[in-house]
Amino acid sequence: MEIMSIITFAVFIFLVFLLHSILKFFSIGIKKLPLPPGTLGWPYIGETFQLYSQNPNVFFASKVKKFGSIFKTHILGCPCVMISSPEAARLVLATKAHLFKPTFPASKMRMLGNQAIFFQQGDYHAKLRKLVLRAFMPESIRNMVSDIDSVAINTLGSWEGRQINTYQEMKTYTFNVALLSIFGKDEVLYREDLKRCYHILEKGYNSMPINLPGTLFHKAMKARKELAQILAKILSVRRQMKQNHTDLLGSFMGDKEGLTDQQIADNIIGAIFAARDTTASVLTWILKFLGENPSVLEAVTNEQDEIIRAKEENNEEKALNWADTKKMPMTSKVIQESLRVASILSFTFREAVEDVEFEGYLIPKGWKVLPLFRNIHHSPENFPEPEKFDPSRFEVSPKPNTFMPFGNGSHACPGNELAKLEILVLIHHLTTKYRWSMMGPRNGIQYGPFPLPQNGLPIKLSRKT
Ligand code: HEM
Ligand SMILES: *[C@@H]1O[C@H](CO)[C@@H](O)[C@H](O)[C@H]1NC(C)=O
Ligand SMILES: *[C@@H]1O[C@H](CO)[C@@H](O)[C@H](O)[C@H]1NC(C)=O
Repeated sequence: MEIMSIITFAVFIFLVFLLHSILKFFSIGIKKLPLPPGTLGWPYIGETFQLYSQNPNVFFASKVKKFGSIFKTHILGCPCVMISSPEAARLVLATKAHLFKPTFPASKMRMLGNQAIFFQQGDYHAKLRKLVLRAFMPESIRNMVSDIDSVAINTLGSWEGRQINTYQEMKTYTFNVALLSIFGKDEVLYREDLKRCYHILEKGYNSMPINLPGTLFHKAMKARKELAQILAKILSVRRQMKQNHTDLLGSFMGDKEGLTDQQIADNIIGAIFAARDTTASVLTWILKFLGENPSVLEAVTNEQDEIIRAKEENNEEKALNWADTKKMPMTSKVIQESLRVASILSFTFREAVEDVEFEGYLIPKGWKVLPLFRNIHHSPENFPEPEKFDPSRFEVSPKPNTFMPFGNGSHACPGNELAKLEILVLIHHLTTKYRWSMMGPRNGIQYGPFPLPQNGLPIKLSRKT
């Protein structure tokens, strides 16, 4: 018995040793591979200035031209590999997603809370994702169309007869729609408080992280606590009422799920963060592209007028419904083409969790990996005459992994249906009831952090007569 177990033990040790050697052999194999081409610039600061001192697209484009679709560089203190081929994007985001974990700058993590969906992998991520998708899938958001419809009508009404900053006003619209999707109609009670706290929070998170009374950062941390208190109040009211809600908060509160209040708070703040500025930037670009392309605007307006006409003919209720939004193919193509040309999320961040081989190169463990969506969307191989705004190119669907405004794989945007829905509804009322003229400079772009028309696209809106 004794001897048997000693032999078993010896065999076990031998096998462990063998396995270790095999693994070591292979990892040395990978280690021998060259790094991708490219330059790392100065120590520590790397090429951060080259990237941030100009339009970032100039940096990416000149690198791709020099080194090809995969190259290394060094920004913000991190060595990184930038990739801009559809194959590489598929590998990093979808097929080998387990080897590339999402990473964010520390400031974002502080603002959103470290339990928010963006930073997670594995079981906790899968659980959160299921809950978010449940609230944002078409069957859930189809009931929200008439409420979004009223938000859109009120928003546009408030712009009449004055010069507005399109981006700022769109942020109010997308914030209100986000609250509707998170809290349902209960939200009106808390809207102003939530808005005030979120505003302080966002101002603080880009500031120096010095937690002394009076600093923006200190105020932001206080606002975050207050947000958590407001949420706690909403949660306790809901728990007493014992009703089922189909909104995001209801999904997070589902009995079996057992999320803590902290986890719920981090993910509610995260959802507002993911939903508001992204959708508002896209809407701003759409107004610009429609304003610059009269024939496209006319086609969209005709499509939207036809929806109103058909509803009147069938004696339907005036408010838009889900079925109406499925009869907008021209407008949908305009949204797709705007997402492509504007590519507001120029890239995303991942980090290699181990040494990875890709196309004969080594991507070392710990390096950042950035799929460059904008370069993929602006490559003439994927989209001929890429700088031209031409919605008709979406009459045929793009090839896999050449068009990823919402990402791909396990972290792809769960809010994409909601984003498209609220954009369709706003364009419907805008084109059927209003004209607008653009007041600012024509070609300027600002980055803050998403690319936007200069000064947020000042416009003047008036009712059609
Ligand atoms: C046009 C507007 C939008 C664009 C272009 C957009 C784009 C994206 C992209 C590219 C990602 C993936 C990032 C990555 O893989 O690193 C993402 C993730 C996400 N988006 Fe959106 N998004 C938009 C609107 C929304 C809306 C309205 C919501 C609703 C709450 C939302 C919620 C989220 C969430 C929660 C994630 C994280 C998913 C995860 O990590 O599993 N987004 N979005
Ligand atoms: C809420 O949903 C649960 C599970 O789907 C169901 O068992 C319960 O009866 C519902 N309660 C109400 C008040 O609708
Ligand atoms: C996402 O990746 C899968 C697998 O590679 C692919 O089939 C799909 O078309 C991709 N989606 C997009 C939007 O490119």
